[in-house]
Amino acid sequence: NAGRNKAHRHTPNLTMATGSAERLVETTLEAARNELTRGLGGLLDRDVPVWSDRGGQVPDGAVVVGTRDSSTVVRRYVSARDLASVGAEGYLIRSVSRGRHEVTVIAANTDVGALYGTFAFLRHLQTQRPIANLNISGSPKVEHRHLNYWETERLYAGNDELGDGGLGGETGAIFNFAATGASAHLNLPVILDRYIVAARALASVGITGITINNVNANPVYLTRAYIQQEAALADALRPYGIRLAVSANYAAPLDQRFAPDTLTREQLDPTSTEFQGWWNRRARELQAAIPDFIGFTVKANSEGQPGPQDHGKDHGDGANGLAAAVAPLGMTIFWRTFVYNPDVDTDRLKRAYLEFAPIDDEPQPDGTRGRFADNVFLQTKNGPLDFQAREPIHPMFGRMENTNQAIELQITQEYTGQGTMLTYLGPMWEEVLTTDTYATDRQGRLLDKRRVGNIVDGSAQGHRDTAVVGVANLGNADNLTGHHFSQANLFAFGRLAWDWTLDAEDIATDWVRMTWNNRDDVVETIVAMMMGSWEALVSYQTPLGIGHQFEFSNPADHYGPGPSVWFGNDDWSPVHYNKADSVGLGYDRSPTGSDLAAQYFPTLAAKYGDIDTVPENLMMWFHHVPWDHRMRSGRIFWDELVHRYQMGVQYVTGMRHTWDALEPYLDARRFAEVRAKLAKHEADAADWRDTCVNYWQEFSGRPVPVDGGPLS
Ligand code: GCU
Repeated sequence: NAGRNKAHRHTPNLTMATGSAERLVETTLEAARNELTRGLGGLLDRDVPVWSDRGGQVPDGAVVVGTRDSSTVVRRYVSARDLASVGAEGYLIRSVSRGRHEVTVIAANTDVGALYGTFAFLRHLQTQRPIANLNISGSPKVEHRHLNYWETERLYAGNDELGDGGLGGETGAIFNFAATGASAHLNLPVILDRYIVAARALASVGITGITINNVNANPVYLTRAYIQQEAALADALRPYGIRLAVSANYAAPLDQRFAPDTLTREQLDPTSTEFQGWWNRRARELQAAIPDFIGFTVKANSEGQPGPQDHGKDHGDGANGLAAAVAPLGMTIFWRTFVYNPDVDTDRLKRAYLEFAPIDDEPQPDGTRGRFADNVFLQTKNGPLDFQAREPIHPMFGRMENTNQAIELQITQEYTGQGTMLTYLGPMWEEVLTTDTYATDRQGRLLDKRRVGNIVDGSAQGHRDTAVVGVANLGNADNLTGHHFSQANLFAFGRLAWDWTLDAEDIATDWVRMTWNNRDDVVETIVAMMMGSWEALVSYQTPLGIGHQFEFSNPADHYGPGPSVWFGNDDWSPVHYNKADSVGLGYDRSPTGSDLAAQYFPTLAAKYGDIDTVPENLMMWFHHVPWDHRMRSGRIFWDELVHRYQMGVQYVTGMRHTWDALEPYLDARRFAEVRAKLAKHEADAADWRDTCVNYWQEFSGRPVPVDGGPLS
């Protein structure tokens, strides 16, 4: 029944590049129909006829997709009441029979719900689950499921530079903006195949929005020439339920590209009518071209970016100034909390909470608390430092009762092996989202629902506006992500953004079945390999809660080990974070040190603040651990530390052997590409172990334990 409901705006000048294999679609139901014919055609290896559900007559075996408005069959078999239970974006998939006719109905309240149901049905088939007597439902726990796409920074999925199919290059943007010489014919508004491939992939896991440029924002994305290109992209992605946002540079009004509509520095006061008027004009231009434009993502007063503090105002004033400018247009501001102004505290990890919490708690004239506007989300990284492989949760989760809060996860593997290391991040996000915050109400009573996931989905504190944001790993590689296994991270992010209670292992199992092979033994082997890969990375890079031990020298920045380095700034320096000395290793954030621990709710504060109760895998985030400290394994800390490094490397060796044994079951090209990556992965993991252990040994003065294995 696709193609009936042409609710979406058609853009006549939108074109695909010549020679395209993909097709532009105008409506969401048309997208659903294409997925079904393509997916079923591929799985069954034959053409799949398309029927229009005229008067409810459909052949035996048909799959019917639609809403009660668009389809008589849906109306006949699915009650409005049943559909009400799955909400705006959810779906129901049911096997129904009429006489001897068996029909599968994929029903939803909206077209996008029908598209999500279609993908869920295809996933069901592809993972070889039984298709008789289907009665499946799904609906997202979180409303905004966004990607932040950092455009040219921290992407590990490019293919142009190295000519290696995108398996090693760092740059290589997925979207081509602006006309640049000879390749102008490949730039937006021309739509390339991979934009549609990406849209389909993202819709299949329920992504609803993309902020298309780096958080270190170039104002050029707000100029007319770019807005035209963004509109073309938005038109191509819209049928897939994906809307656009742009990262905004706070000081964009100074940029001469907007002349004569520019402001003076004095007018950058966020409370001023000039500032708000300027942003309102930009937002109007965007909305005229992109009617469903989401709004702006803002990195302000962080890492050299301009912000309200340059004008004597705070983050609340800044976020609210922009929010006021776009509120009449129904837009939202995603204000990032990744800030670490050194004047606030000597411990970088404490600063964001100290800046934002008082604004969240501020009494308002109407008797309520919290100054942030309703159309502001505070977007907070999972941990208080910066996407390290394992961090404690950010203390702001649960502490921002009066403000909308989005969690920001990093899909692109900046600190987790980039385009080289096979690291499945599903278990990390599961750990973060299921961590108990021990949040209490104002009277100090523990909340019933208080995991990070409950905070994010609003069930803990009754928030209705909810968002999960992933810093994406899309690039121009054929497979969109470079390393074949990085795709699993994009997949897992989408699935967990939809429903954070899903199990990371189940997600990996689906992905492996859909991507590599459906043989049970092969699936189990690959899934097992993936499931331990993140913990292995933590072990050979930063075990037991040591963080930020990376060298920073292009092109390897944030990839290799640099435990002995000081970069001229404490906040970026491994030596500042490890505090290695003859006593031990780690940063004292307990009550005897910076007392970051006190920013958590009391139960967690007590647990983290005491070296005897802190989880060992977070130990050095909170304690300077003496070399002879007795660990739960019975080993002393030094021995345990070396053991972890060694175990991590051994795991990678194991993955390499496992992979080799899978050769008969995998296609030759992808087998070989992953194999080559694993060889480098193993060598680089060993480099981490050797560099770190040798350096720590200068302080510990203890021998490397025999069971620690060989150190080169
Ligand atoms: C990290 C990353 C930067 C990024 C920043 C941020 O520091 O290295 O590339 O800009 O995070 O999240 O703003």
